[in-house]
Amino acid sequence: MQTNPTRLNKAVIPVAGLGTRFLPATKSTPKEMLPVVDKPAIQYVVEEAVSAGLLDVLMVTGRNKRPLEDHFDRNYELEDMLLRKGDTERLAQVCASTDLADVHYVRQGDPRGLGHAVLCAASHVGDEPFAVLLGDDLIDPRDPLLARMVEVQARYGGSVVALIEVPADRIHLYGCADVRPAGPDGLVRVVDLVEKPDPGTAPSGYAVIGRYVLAPEIFGVLQRTAPGRGGEIQLTDALRELARCGEVRGVVFEGRRYDTGDRAEYLRTTVRLACERTDLGEDFRSWLREFVESELRSPQSVGG
Ligand code: UTP
Repeated sequence: MQTNPTRLNKAVIPVAGLGTRFLPATKSTPKEMLPVVDKPAIQYVVEEAVSAGLLDVLMVTGRNKRPLEDHFDRNYELEDMLLRKGDTERLAQVCASTDLADVHYVRQGDPRGLGHAVLCAASHVGDEPFAVLLGDDLIDPRDPLLARMVEVQARYGGSVVALIEVPADRIHLYGCADVRPAGPDGLVRVVDLVEKPDPGTAPSGYAVIGRYVLAPEIFGVLQRTAPGRGGEIQLTDALRELARCGEVRGVVFEGRRYDTGDRAEYLRTTVRLACERTDLGEDFRSWLREFVESELRSPQSVGG
């Protein structure tokens, strides 16, 4: 069942989840539209796909698709106003998301799980390998993970997942991979997968993060995958079947990854990225230093 390596140019970005951890912000806005500094999280993700050579982007949307479509579409009124003011810098920022990629949309209907969202991409993707990127994980462009995964898929075929090592007391929050060494540069063979293992039962400390390069065989498997954990059709359950046939490799990622999936991590990510910005970083860092010092002096602070 080995897949013939094919040049990959399609990225699928599921954005139909309910985003319950970010309510009420996500009541009428997809969580992928929440800004990280001044860009919606989804734009970082599309930029990452494009820089790995994937110019055909399919978003699997749900009931709140409007803001996403608008963000990647032209806004003539705004462009015209900025043009008339001669504000070329902001005009370039407004046009950047429109010109980035060839963006398509498909509706998921009921959010029946990540596996089901991926299955909704089947007719757009066809019989080719493709990438899946989740908006909860931002990967620093200085550490190009997706390009490496595409390379691995082109070389070996099959499917490729991205793994990070996490402490034993956090592995139950992730999909976990049972792995065997497979080669140099952090490449492993994935022999089994478990979605959010019960504490103490994880087969390893390797957690699956939100980047996948999948063989089209995944669609056939997803069609017969029953709802699993949380009553949802889990991508991990379908990948497990391919892993048990020796069809899944893992790239162990040691670069910079920013988790924007929960509120505290989202805030840390925003602070970190703001500190690194050339236009904002200097002022923001000096404010942050003063803020931290005053927090440490405050009687409410730990050890204060
Ligand atoms: P999450 O498990 O993080 O779910 O989905 P969620 O609903 O977005 O967020 P919380 O946990 O309720 O806060 C992982 C990714 O899969 C997409 C989500 O949009 C997110 O990018 N997803 C999930 C779908 O597109 N459809 C689904 O049915 C489920």
